[in-house]
Amino acid sequence: MDLSAFPRVALGSWPTPLDDAPGLTAALGGPPVLLKRDDVNGLGAGGNKLRKLEFLLGQALAQGADTIITFGALQTNHGRQTAAACAKLGLRCELVLTAKVPMTGDAYERSGNIVLDHLFGANVHICADADETAAVYEEVNHPGAVTLPVGGSNGLGTLGYVAAAVELVGQLTDRGIGEATIVVPDGSGATAAGIALGTELLGWPGRVHAASVSHTAADARQALEVLCADAAALLGVPAPELAHVTVTDDTVGDGYGVPTPQMWDVLELFARTEGVLLDPVYTGKAAVKFREIAASGDVPVVFLHTGGLPGFYGYAAEAVARFGPA
Ligand SMILES: Cc1ncc(COP(=O)(O)O)c(C=O)c1O
Repeated sequence: MDLSAFPRVALGSWPTPLDDAPGLTAALGGPPVLLKRDDVNGLGAGGNKLRKLEFLLGQALAQGADTIITFGALQTNHGRQTAAACAKLGLRCELVLTAKVPMTGDAYERSGNIVLDHLFGANVHICADADETAAVYEEVNHPGAVTLPVGGSNGLGTLGYVAAAVELVGQLTDRGIGEATIVVPDGSGATAAGIALGTELLGWPGRVHAASVSHTAADARQALEVLCADAAALLGVPAPELAHVTVTDDTVGDGYGVPTPQMWDVLELFARTEGVLLDPVYTGKAAVKFREIAASGDVPVVFLHTGGLPGFYGYAAEAVARFGPA
């Protein structure tokens, strides 16, 4: 697979670390677990969107774009990383956000990612529903603007995680780890799709587990298949079979962005065994599935940490109630 044919802009430092997690391994009592730290990049507080944005903004710049428009929920990490990348690249950034999550209060509505969006100089538009979102989009769109999908998830964005799969399989091979299970949070889908496609194209012997944080498993699987097929078409290879991929939705709880008790438990487990922070929306819920797989598995389990820490502060009241001073 040749990724060099695609225009790409440097936004992160690669490779990200693949860390042993001895405290977590001991606590779970199963095979060794490892953490792939895609949360620790410098730009805009880091996270998984930087890998997608390297391709998406590379193409936008090649097209001569002056503005990037994208969408998301109020606490979108994708929006925050897009805003940071636009600040670095001198692009105007229009974030068209929709109130999708049943969370209210100052922390959720004004802090966390959203204050950082403003800090990075993005124009932030908060919309009540799909009609208002469409109307605002029409207002801000113009020739010279490039529109990125929710989460940066399209075939081109998926290539960022195909590159990540190559990087991760190389790191595992260097450690003498052949078969393993990679657990990935799955929202708009391109992160899991890129890992799924990349590992299949490499003929890697392990498994990929996509833990949905929003959609039903059937919908998430379908989205993942479409993204894989689109990315494969860009690479000029046949759509993958994805027989090594499992998608689940049983750790979503009451809905996208709605905390669950298991999510808070696993946040505490990561913090107290490894000093690693997860977020309540993505990594926290996916880590509930990771914990289950790692506790019962017989091959090493890799948790792909996709970032999202600023979102934690959107849930400050809940976090303080659970972990804060009495
Ligand atoms: C922190 C974090 N992890 C995981 C995801 C899910 O990635 P994807 O949208 O590619 O499925 C997101 C998406 O916004 C995210 O912000």
